[in-house]
Amino acid sequence: MIEILNKEFADDVHSGLTSSQKSLNSRWFYDERGDQIFVDIMNMPEYYLTNCEHEIFCDQTEKLIQVLDIDETHFDLYELGAGDGTKTMELLRAINGADFTYHPIDISFHAIHNLEQRVQNELPEVDVRGIQDDYFSALGKMQSDNRKVILFMGSNIGNMDDEKAHKFMCKLSETMSRGDVLLLGVDLMKPGHIVLPAYNDASGHTAAFNLNLLERINRELDGNFDLDKFIHRPVYEEDTGFAKSFLQSKEKQTVRIEALDLSVDFEERETIFMEISRKYNDSILRGVIQDTGLQITNKLTDSKGYFADYILKKV
Ligand code: AVI
Repeated sequence: MIEILNKEFADDVHSGLTSSQKSLNSRWFYDERGDQIFVDIMNMPEYYLTNCEHEIFCDQTEKLIQVLDIDETHFDLYELGAGDGTKTMELLRAINGADFTYHPIDISFHAIHNLEQRVQNELPEVDVRGIQDDYFSALGKMQSDNRKVILFMGSNIGNMDDEKAHKFMCKLSETMSRGDVLLLGVDLMKPGHIVLPAYNDASGHTAAFNLNLLERINRELDGNFDLDKFIHRPVYEEDTGFAKSFLQSKEKQTVRIEALDLSVDFEERETIFMEISRKYNDSILRGVIQDTGLQITNKLTDSKGYFADYILKKV
């Protein structure tokens, strides 16, 4: 039996694949190959989310500075799930010279290292101190007494169901003091003919993104998933705003995962629920932040009205 390097991964896979609706947690998509595929996804014409938020950061930078209450007071700028920081660089360029420390947080060591280098090269005046961690555990490290401006962009909150999103916002709010602000980037509810192609692209990147998790199980947990026996099946429920990705078994089959000493039976057409990408509107967001001590103070949208950066203030 191979050594189980990541017990949390193993436990998650075990509980997901033994549930009546089989599921896998999308947080495990992001291994080295998954990171690369996600970059390909962000560059696809169908994946409008990244360009829309980038447009907000490019075209409404002055407004952003104003609604984030950035002035001469010293503050800490935290970014949860910073990635390559392309959008944030627009803001950093505009506030270069202000008195702040930038703390990008990302699970990927490479992402943090590259981003620190990029900021140091392009904006040497900016004090950048990266934190390598997932954004749940990173909340415990956001302990400064300075004023906080927090960025949680890219519709990353959309990968949580509403209950989990609410709990996360409660925790995030606990790290904030009165007057601190959070910029929350979310994809907005819209017709299926726009949303669905973003998760069902012609080039097959999203399918590969999902299937890569089966490959990861094969590699890290000594599984024998045959990737050719599963099809990527995304759906979008226009009324509720839930985009969901499934992998569907093409045939009746049994998959063996040695490290878990587990055999998983699949019926023909049986699905594994892979990911939720929740789409928002004002009332859904109000529900998610209810009783968190956070209040919506502003909303910036792109020119098509597809994406929103909400500004939430701790009251
Ligand atoms: C990271 N997250 C916001 C992406 C999304 O749109 O839900 C992940 C993704 N999954 C498939 N394509 C992109």
